[in-house]
Amino acid sequence: MKFTLSVSYALLGTLALAASSTDGLQSTECLANSDQDQYPTKSTLKYARGFTLSYHSTYKILKNTSAQSTYVLYQCGSAKPAGVENVTAYIPIPVKKAGAWSTTAAIFIEALGVQDTARNLGTVSSIVSPCLQRLIEDKAIQPFDAGNRTHVSEQEDSNTVVFNMPGGQDANTANTALATAYLETSALGRSEWVKFYGAFFNAEERANRLFDQVDQNYQCFEGKAQKQYNDIRPVVAWTTYAPPTQFNGNKEYWKISFADYKYDLVRDAGARMLNTTGRQSTRFNSSQGFLDALEEADIVIDESFEPFEYQDLLKHYGVTSSNKKRFSWVAANRVYRPDKIQSTGGGLGWFEAPVVFADALLQDMVIVAHPASMKEEGYTPIWFRNLALGEKVDVVKAKDCKDTEAQKKDPAGQCKGIKLNPANPSDSMYTDVEPNQTQDLVYDPSKSEVINDTATSGAGIAKYSAIAMLLGLAAHM
Ligand SMILES: *[C@@H]1O[C@H](CO)[C@@H](O)[C@H](O)[C@H]1NC(C)=O
Ligand SMILES: *[C@@H]1O[C@H](CO)[C@@H](O)[C@H](O)[C@H]1NC(C)=O
Ligand SMILES: *[C@@H]1O[C@H](CO)[C@@H](O)[C@H](O)[C@H]1NC(C)=O
Ligand SMILES: *[C@@H]1O[C@H](CO)[C@@H](O)[C@H](O)[C@H]1NC(C)=O
Ligand SMILES: *[C@@H]1O[C@H](CO)[C@@H](O)[C@H](O)[C@H]1NC(C)=O
Ligand SMILES: *[C@@H]1O[C@H](CO)[C@@H](O)[C@H](O)[C@H]1NC(C)=O
Ligand SMILES: *[C@@H]1O[C@H](CO)[C@@H](O)[C@H](O)[C@H]1NC(C)=O
Repeated sequence: MKFTLSVSYALLGTLALAASSTDGLQSTECLANSDQDQYPTKSTLKYARGFTLSYHSTYKILKNTSAQSTYVLYQCGSAKPAGVENVTAYIPIPVKKAGAWSTTAAIFIEALGVQDTARNLGTVSSIVSPCLQRLIEDKAIQPFDAGNRTHVSEQEDSNTVVFNMPGGQDANTANTALATAYLETSALGRSEWVKFYGAFFNAEERANRLFDQVDQNYQCFEGKAQKQYNDIRPVVAWTTYAPPTQFNGNKEYWKISFADYKYDLVRDAGARMLNTTGRQSTRFNSSQGFLDALEEADIVIDESFEPFEYQDLLKHYGVTSSNKKRFSWVAANRVYRPDKIQSTGGGLGWFEAPVVFADALLQDMVIVAHPASMKEEGYTPIWFRNLALGEKVDVVKAKDCKDTEAQKKDPAGQCKGIKLNPANPSDSMYTDVEPNQTQDLVYDPSKSEVINDTATSGAGIAKYSAIAMLLGLAAHM
C-alpha cells in the first residue's frame, strides 16, 4: 500500500503537493496499538502569549492561558488520557470535520491547506477568500443556519471541533475551541496562531514552515525599514467615527484606537503611533478633542464601521474649510481605510489574510508610511486604500479562486530582494520629526473632553461590540 502510494507520488512529481496530499501532516491515521510518539514534529511558540501547547506521546494539551480553558487533543483510536486537570474539552485528532464562526478562523484553516475538513462556517457573506467562497458555492461547506437554532445545534454537533471567539454566538458547546488571535499584542503573535489551529489537524510541519517564513520575511522588512526610515517617522492615527445609533445610546463618538499590535506594526514600518494615553483606545464625545489630537498626525487610518465618502468623513470628523490647514494629513491626502479587499457582502479581507501573514501586513504598512518605498517593484498596498485619493474597493469573488485544495499563499513580496527607497521629506508633509525619534508621539488627552471609557461602556456599547464581534470586527477595536 505504502509502496504504491510513493510510486504514484513520484509519477505525479510536484503536482502531488496539492493539499489533498499528506505532505506536512503527521499521524493522519487513527492509532491502532502503539504508544510511540505520534507527534515527532512539534510546534514551539516564539511570540504568541494567548495559548500554550505541550506534547505527550498520543495527545497534546492546548491551553488558553488567560481563561484556564484546557483542550486535550488526543489521537483518534487511543483512549482519552486520564489525569489532566480542569479539561474544557477532549477533541479526537486529526480533526476531519471542523466548523468555524469567524472568518479569521476560516482563513487559518485555509492557510494550513486543510479546508477539505471545513463543514460549516459562520458569517459566510463576509468571507473574502475566493477559494472558501468557491467551496461554499459548491456546497462542500455549508453556512451555519443562523435562522434556525435547532439546525445550528445539529450542525455544531456534527463537527469534531467548532472554532469560536469568547462572547460569540454558541461559544459554549461541548466541542468549542475558543481562539483569540486578535488579543495578541504583536502582529507576529497573531500569525503564530497558525500553530494553535495546526495542532488540531496534526499539521505541525505546515504550521511551522508557514510561520517561519512569515517571521523571517517580517524581520527582514522590519530591519530594512528601521535602517532606512530612522530619521523620518511619520505619525499614524487609527480613527473611528460612530454616528448616533441604537447601539451607542444615540450618542455619536470619535475614537483613536491604540491596540497593541498596531503600535508594534507602525513602529516596525518605520513610523510612530499617535499615543493618546497608552490605553487601548480613547473615545471623545465631541469632534473638538478628537481633532486636537489629530493635529499631530501625518497619516490617518479610518476604521469607521460605515464606509463614508471622503468629503462626508471629513465633515463627520469636524474638518471644515476654515480649520483644515491645521491637518497635514488632509493637505497631503493621507487618509486610508483597511477595506480595499471585500466580499460581495461587504466583509473585509482585513480580518483574513493579514492576520495569518504578518509580513504582508507589514509590507502594506511600510508603503502607507513611506509611499515611495517600493515604487520600482510596483508594490501597492493590498488591504489599504487611499480614501482621500478616491481609490476604489476590490470585490473578490469565487471565480478568482485558482485551486480549492491548495494552502493559501502568502501575498507578501520576498523582502530579501527588495531595496526600500529612502524617505524624501520634501515629497510629503511630516510634522514634528526629530532626528532619530523612535518614541511615540504623546498627545495629552486631559486637554480635551475625553469620554471616561469605564464610565460610559454601558449596555449600548457592549451590544455594538457583540455585533462587531460577530462580523469579525473585534480584531480592529
Ligand atoms: C480564553 O477564553 C476566555 C473565555 O473563556 C476569553 O475570555 C479569553 O480572552 C481567552 N484568552 C485567550 C488568551 O485566548
Ligand atoms: C483546576 O481548577 C481548580 C479550581 O478552579 C484550581 O484550584 C486548580 O488549581 C486547577 N488546576 C490546574 C492544574 O489548573
Ligand atoms: C429547523 O431545523 C430543524 C432541524 O434540522 C428542522 O427539523 C426544522 O424543520 C427547521 N425549521 C425550519 C423553520 O426550517
Ligand atoms: C504612551 O504614552 C504614555 C505616556 O507617556 C506612556 O506611558 C506609554 O508607555 C506609551 N505607550 C507606548 C506603547 O509606548
Ligand atoms: C463631554 O464630556 C464632558 C466631560 O465628561 C462634559 O462636560 C461635556 O458636557 C460632554 N460634551 C458633550 C457634547 O456631550
Ligand atoms: C541617527 O542614528 C543613526 C544610527 O544610530 C546615526 O548614524 C545618525 O547619526 C543619527 N542621526 C542623528 C541626526 O542623530
Ligand atoms: C471613570 O469612571 C469610573 C466609573 O465611574 C471611575 O471609577 C473612574 O475613576 C473614572 N476614571 C477617571 C479617569 O475619571
